[in-house]
Amino acid sequence: MHPDLSQVVRLDGDWQARLSSDPVAFHSQCVHAIEQGKVLYFPDTGFDVTLSERSLLRPELANPARRNISLSADGTTLSGVLGDPTAKRCVQALIARYQTSARHLVESLVPEYKAHLRSQPTSLRLHPVEHRKRSWKADDSRLHVDAFPSRPNHGMRIVRVFANINPAGIPRVWRVGEPFEAVARRFITGIPPQRPGSAWLLEKLRITKSRRTPYDHLMLGLHDAMKADLSYQRDCAQELVTFQPGSTWICFSDQASHAVLSGQFMLEQTFFLPVTALIQPAYGPLAILERLAGQRLLPAARSRIP
Ligand code: SIN
Ligand code: FE
Repeated sequence: MHPDLSQVVRLDGDWQARLSSDPVAFHSQCVHAIEQGKVLYFPDTGFDVTLSERSLLRPELANPARRNISLSADGTTLSGVLGDPTAKRCVQALIARYQTSARHLVESLVPEYKAHLRSQPTSLRLHPVEHRKRSWKADDSRLHVDAFPSRPNHGMRIVRVFANINPAGIPRVWRVGEPFEAVARRFITGIPPQRPGSAWLLEKLRITKSRRTPYDHLMLGLHDAMKADLSYQRDCAQELVTFQPGSTWICFSDQASHAVLSGQFMLEQTFFLPVTALIQPAYGPLAILERLAGQRLLPAARSRIP
């Protein structure tokens, strides 16, 4: 695919060197791309796993009852690891190092986000993607934008930093779909309206952790509608991207249409970012959906959360 049409922006070489040689141009390239919903791909920026840590890269260490191994945002609580206390300590140290390095990377690329990024748990994914058996809604091999059914995020953006740490040379293979506005235009009119009282009831029944806003309703509607439409999955504009071991990639996963096809051994860091911290908010899902829906989608107070 021609680079201008691609939803993936490849930034070869050492990002620190690029940053120090022309910080203004590099920042603006990164902000422009990521806020337009593109995936920033750093093929030469790996996350170093030491030789002794390689012995931790075994699926048996992950509790099959949990989706992933994860470390809480404050670095204190590790979950989903089986194994002896030494293995647990080493897993914790590995994930904690990644937590620090992922934050440093995002803060360096977009310093304007620094004061606003809210760290979420960090995950270590040890299972081969191909072995996952999921319901269609949870099937991440179908193109989707991220939206959480039980955790409404009130317009908060989702930034994710991924690192392929496969020691055997196996890439993580994604499909990356069309820009968010095209997705939204295609599906918005088919999303059933939010029934009056339903957000209140879902919260009351503790199905959601907080009140589902009209924005959350539409985002979840897009997520489900994309995954449910198999002809869309097959025919929409998309590209196959192979993220090599020793590479890192970053995107707003609530905006970039993505699907994972294969791969094993990955670290992932999520941040939330208030919509008010965006530099070009007009490109974001909230602005696009409000324009297409012709109405405000967040209660007034929520949209002003700093
Ligand atoms: C996803 O965020 O949908 C899955 C990403 C991955 O496992 O590579
Ligand atoms: Fe996803």
